[in-house]
Amino acid sequence: MNHANLKKRTIMRHPGLAAILVAVALAANARPPTTSSDIDRIVHSMSLDEKVGQMTQLDISMLLVPGANTIAFDTNRMREAIVEYGIGSIFNPGLGHPMPLKEWHYLIRTVQGMATTETPHKIPILYGIDSIHGASFMEGGTLYPQGMALAATCDPPLVQACAHVSAMETRAAGVRWTFAPVLGVARQPLWPRFPETLGEDPYLASVLGAAEVRGFQGRNLAAPTAVAACMKHYMGYSFPFNGHDRTLALIPDYYLREYFLPPFAAAVRAGVATVMINSGEVNGVPVHASHYLLTDVLRHELGFRGVAVSDWHDVIRLHTWHHVAATPEDAVGMAVKAGLDMSMVPDDYSFPTLLKKAVEDGKIPESRIDESVRRILTLKMELGLFKDPYPEAAAVKNFARPEYRKVALRAAEEAMTLLKNEGNFLPLKKDDKVLVAGPTANTLFSLNGCWSYTWQGTNAEWYPPGEPTVVQAIRKEIGATNVVYDEGVDFEGMDISTANAVADAKNADVVVLCLGENSYAETPGDINDLDLPAGQQALAMDLYATGKPVVLVLLEGRGRIIRKIVPDARAILMGYWPGSQGAQAIAHVLFGDFDPSGKLPFTYNRYQNNFLTYDRDYTDGRPEAPDDTPQFEFGTGLSYTTFAYSNLKLTSPVLKGTGKLQVSVDVSNTGKREGMETVELFTHEFYASIAPPLKRLRAFKKIDLQPGQTRTVHFTLTARDLAFVNAQSQLATETGDFEVEIGNLEQTFRYEE
Ligand code: BGC
Repeated sequence: MNHANLKKRTIMRHPGLAAILVAVALAANARPPTTSSDIDRIVHSMSLDEKVGQMTQLDISMLLVPGANTIAFDTNRMREAIVEYGIGSIFNPGLGHPMPLKEWHYLIRTVQGMATTETPHKIPILYGIDSIHGASFMEGGTLYPQGMALAATCDPPLVQACAHVSAMETRAAGVRWTFAPVLGVARQPLWPRFPETLGEDPYLASVLGAAEVRGFQGRNLAAPTAVAACMKHYMGYSFPFNGHDRTLALIPDYYLREYFLPPFAAAVRAGVATVMINSGEVNGVPVHASHYLLTDVLRHELGFRGVAVSDWHDVIRLHTWHHVAATPEDAVGMAVKAGLDMSMVPDDYSFPTLLKKAVEDGKIPESRIDESVRRILTLKMELGLFKDPYPEAAAVKNFARPEYRKVALRAAEEAMTLLKNEGNFLPLKKDDKVLVAGPTANTLFSLNGCWSYTWQGTNAEWYPPGEPTVVQAIRKEIGATNVVYDEGVDFEGMDISTANAVADAKNADVVVLCLGENSYAETPGDINDLDLPAGQQALAMDLYATGKPVVLVLLEGRGRIIRKIVPDARAILMGYWPGSQGAQAIAHVLFGDFDPSGKLPFTYNRYQNNFLTYDRDYTDGRPEAPDDTPQFEFGTGLSYTTFAYSNLKLTSPVLKGTGKLQVSVDVSNTGKREGMETVELFTHEFYASIAPPLKRLRAFKKIDLQPGQTRTVHFTLTARDLAFVNAQSQLATETGDFEVEIGNLEQTFRYEE
């Protein structure tokens, strides 16, 4: 350890000095900006160096003693970043893993102390973090389900509540910006970030994405319960042609606007403060270089007024990866001209240096730089950073409250999606003898997934003690004596002890077989084969051969192909990556304490080479192609009770122009227990100028019904709900015959312009 640095660190940690720094800083900002003209005045008085600095975002490691295993600031490196380069933003946990709040506060106080005392305009730092499914880099933070699981809940207020918990815990650490929500729609099943999304449907993702934005930001970014949200990754990232992370997407303009734009548009309408740009290419153009997407569409069409930040290294990659910029300087110029405000550089000073040169060489007008700086400073003002950039006492008390775990548990429970339940095999009896087997049965990785305490989520050291795995939760649920556990095979399906599992199955009443994926994030999660590894399937086959009933529990980020092991499973429960409370949720559902109500938010494919989505068109569903059906349709989700739909009514057979069509349907609980049902309204146009999809989700409502209870659910349809993007890239509703479909009921009507 470097003792010189240790000494510096000890001085910096001295509480008295910290208090003085705070006082000096607050005095320096005695009159913090409160209006846009105040921001304009600051921007006009800033030097070019200061301005390009504000547009720069660095990883915190750039300020720390290299290699130290605690937060140890190197004052020279820190001064270089904050004072010499005047950088505007820092991100990441210092050590790559969660830190206690105390450590976060020390970190935030230190950087803000220097920024607000030693820089010419005393501008505070905007600190960002990946609180993707909870404040995973804050020790003790609450991890709720990943996006795909949240989408299965079809419960906007619950999704909003999860994001709000995340906001409160993130802000409690002194951090006021999260790089979430993930708004790419999941239409490429191989893609390793599939589980971070809110499903394949643009409407569902729009409603839930907007709920997340509201949950993060609240009504007022300055409130100690709010953080700025960052919709990402704009746009087309989720549809790589070959399924690999950060590769080429080929998306015609109409398709881009029909399927990928709506969640971003909805987030803009919800007031999202920032956007992160897609690292990949759309139609050969890296999005970081696309003036069309970053300015014409995002700013001019959607009216986004916030800050556009690059993703990791992506500006320089216009030169080094994408080869669209011949030099690093061209890369910087290209991105800024396209519409970038801030570069997540994040580990050198190339960006501010080259940007300054580009302005001095007359390649970029300084007025363009001013625009970005204005946006960045406005966000800092809105977040209350000029008034008080330090961790706030009012925020700290909102950390790790017991009720947050209840929110995470509820979300995990509502996410649970029952895909198959032959002969009502589930729920299991609590006195059953159970063999719990499979590679996802006794690990926290497959419950939490990526961005869980570490980037990849696969470092056991950082998981909090006491969080149960599935087998532990089942033991808690029914008592340890009736539960035997055998891993059987590992994630890759390598044979460890199938024979033991088979032998143990013989003494069990039922086998709960937990299959699926380990945790992964981004490129390390790339796969070339969507099949569930053969060894995992073989374990299922061997267990089926014992004749004992087998329940499959799938813990996986993607829908790995399981065609061969579906028929003999008595029941299949999709658990996704359900977060810290996921194992309990699984136990509650398996043993009947919670009635499953999740709806599959993506189309679970049956074949490797036939990727379908629910909104496929007629060419995909032709009768002469009998196998052309997915394994499980979008929206699949059984309950322990039964629901019946009746009386689908439309107020008129014709919807005209700007009029409204009221739709109602009766939903009854015809079973024996209380249950929740998501009532989904789909529409379908019989003929249109672009081959119409077989159905599109246009509205949904989640209701709770007692046994025997019937409720009438109402929807209102307007022309906007029937619209699609036509060949001219315009949103249009064409005159024609439509069908509305709810449950197993259908009604036709006509729309006339
Ligand atoms: C990811 C982003 C993330 C960023 C900062 C990138 O590698 O693509 O989603 O926000 O890192 O950690």
